Amino acid sequence: MKKILVGISLIAFRFAVAQSSVYTGVVPAPASLVVTEGNFVFGDETPVFSDPAFMGVAALYAQATFLSSPKAYRGKLNASTTKGIYFLKQRSNSKEAYRLLVNPFSVLVIASDQSGATHGMETLLQLQLLQPDRKTLPCLSVADTPAFAYRGLMLDVSRHFYPVSTVKKMIDMMALYKLNTLHLHLADAAGWRIEIKQYPELTHTAAWRTEQRWKDWWNGNRHYSTEGEPGAYGGYYTQQEARQLVKYAADRSITIIPEIEMPGHSEEVMAVFPQLACSGKPYTQGELCLGNDSTFIVLQNILKEIIDIFPSRYIHIGGDEAGKAAWKKCPKCQARIRTEHLADEHELQSYGIRRMEKFLSRHGRHLLGWDEILEGGLAPGATVMSWRGESGGIKAAKTGHDVIMSPGGYCYFDAYQANPATQPEAIGGFLPISKVYSYNPVPGELNSTEAKHILGVQANVWTEYIPTTEHLEYMIFPRLLALAETGWTKTANKNWASFEERLQQQYLVLQRRNINYYRPIPNLEIKAEADTNEHASLVRILSEQYKPDIRYTTDGSDPTVTDTRYINPFFVKDTTTIKAAIVQHPDSTTGPVASLTTAYHKAVGAKVMYNLPYSKNYPAQKEYTLVNGQKGSFTYGDGQWQGFDSGDMDVTVELKNAMELKNVSISFMQLTGPGVYMPGYVEFSWSEDGKTFSHPVRVENNVPATQSALSIQPFKADIGVRAKYIKVFAQNDKKGFLFADEIMIF
Ligand code: ACM
Repeated sequence: MKKILVGISLIAFRFAVAQSSVYTGVVPAPASLVVTEGNFVFGDETPVFSDPAFMGVAALYAQATFLSSPKAYRGKLNASTTKGIYFLKQRSNSKEAYRLLVNPFSVLVIASDQSGATHGMETLLQLQLLQPDRKTLPCLSVADTPAFAYRGLMLDVSRHFYPVSTVKKMIDMMALYKLNTLHLHLADAAGWRIEIKQYPELTHTAAWRTEQRWKDWWNGNRHYSTEGEPGAYGGYYTQQEARQLVKYAADRSITIIPEIEMPGHSEEVMAVFPQLACSGKPYTQGELCLGNDSTFIVLQNILKEIIDIFPSRYIHIGGDEAGKAAWKKCPKCQARIRTEHLADEHELQSYGIRRMEKFLSRHGRHLLGWDEILEGGLAPGATVMSWRGESGGIKAAKTGHDVIMSPGGYCYFDAYQANPATQPEAIGGFLPISKVYSYNPVPGELNSTEAKHILGVQANVWTEYIPTTEHLEYMIFPRLLALAETGWTKTANKNWASFEERLQQQYLVLQRRNINYYRPIPNLEIKAEADTNEHASLVRILSEQYKPDIRYTTDGSDPTVTDTRYINPFFVKDTTTIKAAIVQHPDSTTGPVASLTTAYHKAVGAKVMYNLPYSKNYPAQKEYTLVNGQKGSFTYGDGQWQGFDSGDMDVTVELKNAMELKNVSISFMQLTGPGVYMPGYVEFSWSEDGKTFSHPVRVENNVPATQSALSIQPFKADIGVRAKYIKVFAQNDKKGFLFADEIMIF
């Protein structure tokens, strides 16, 4: 056979479906996939052959498909070659590349390295899982290579601990979707999760806490327990188990990167080694004392064992969210700042990270840390994981450092994936799969040289609200498929419509792999957006179902199969109630009815004067936010919710001219986790001349501050006056954040 891998040209992704019964919805989309005539039919005894280099991969394939163990095979295929599955090695310049050729007589997986062979094998497995009849595969040819070298998933096994079996299942799924890096967040306040032989206290005590649910523990006394205590909750991986996981992952071409968090998020370490706290006492702070050399000695001893278990190029040292208060008051930390000529506590943190970087470097490893490691100066060989948006990653790439992108807005799988009212409690935020898919890891701010420092992308699963394996799967799937395609498929070849179509096929794969994935809800979302040219609201009806039959009404009646079918966005004037539902065929019943009353209100496009400023960090669309005719969604980060930090909100809306007004309303959000509260009350007053205002009408808040789950509450006043100016005052009595939605005036 000729060396078909040499000189593969990356034909633009073609999604060829030759016959209707052929399912080729592979995710991530291969660089090229072409369906040809005929089928390959598997028998119970179809033999598997492999080049000696790929015996491990071939054995995994045989195991997964219940075929006999592979036989070694070298040489060429010819006319007398036995019908079977062949794993062949050929040279290629592209790392991780593979070809998969299926014809009626053979299935060939061709690659030059183990990763490529694994990816080819997983594409083959996926194709089998996609067929209703797994024994019949359409003939086709795939040529494929990844866009990014780093395609990761982070599991936080500290907030809740998951057994080895869960991690293995996740590794299997990562392999199926061509992710190649599993980042384990092994240490945090909520529990230490890896055996360290030199410090058995860490797993004897710090791996166990007094409450099972993180939320109860966090809101309670945050104490630790002891292994074997009846009420102890937690767990850890023994070194033997961790080594087994490393091998299990490596066999599937996945690297495990361990994270040992420092200097913040380290309460559990100081619970057993209080001498490493500035105060010398447990339960007093989250940051390790950096003025104390013992801190570095302990951390380095821990890392020595970590390095021995995990052969990864990178060792993640955390570095995020370290408070500086304890260091400010600590004589040892202050002495360190003086003797090392550091400017402040940020440079003290940077000093600590640099020390760890030198240590790792001496041991032949690279330091990886969250983007806070940029503050106070980045250590020379460090690689940055950008999570607070992309700015850290951009800054690092521009200074020649490698970067992994995992910005919260696109890659945090602890956020809600649908309307929170329909979902188990999550930490907040809103990240539907379409938004995950929309992410491009290479920021436009980078030139082509700088862009080379973007190694890839990672999804992070923080598990404060995720106590079980089933729930973990629910948060990860199907969003991980979108992330996988972002990491693997060239950005130019990504296409949401194609992905969505393939996703419909992939549900079968997830079912066959017994994954408790998030099922697309039947609920609709109706969105209305003011259009100042049309003087009307543009209505969109959004669904997570695939090409649903949506019917809607605008007269307040519940929709039925005979009502207007929703195809394209439409305009409504004045005040209109839209009701919509999906018709479920074949019995023509309808799913849940969604309802939205929209209005092209009188303040759209008006001038807003800020008597008190909005938050610099949450300006949304600045002075256009509150009167742009767009309501906010379930998350204050969507650009429609305007923040007011600590102080009150006080704005005056100036209409084009004085007019008759019936009522005025504004909604606020409450989500106590990040400190977002309802105002104590809202007052509305009005004026014709902008000088003399009416006595204010007060609307009291009735959402208790103890309600932690997301709530969105309108405050409305019927006024019935003629006015040009409306003043809206919201009292910030909790001194947290206020988040204000559209001011609607009718
Ligand atoms: C992080 O989310 N604190 C990295």
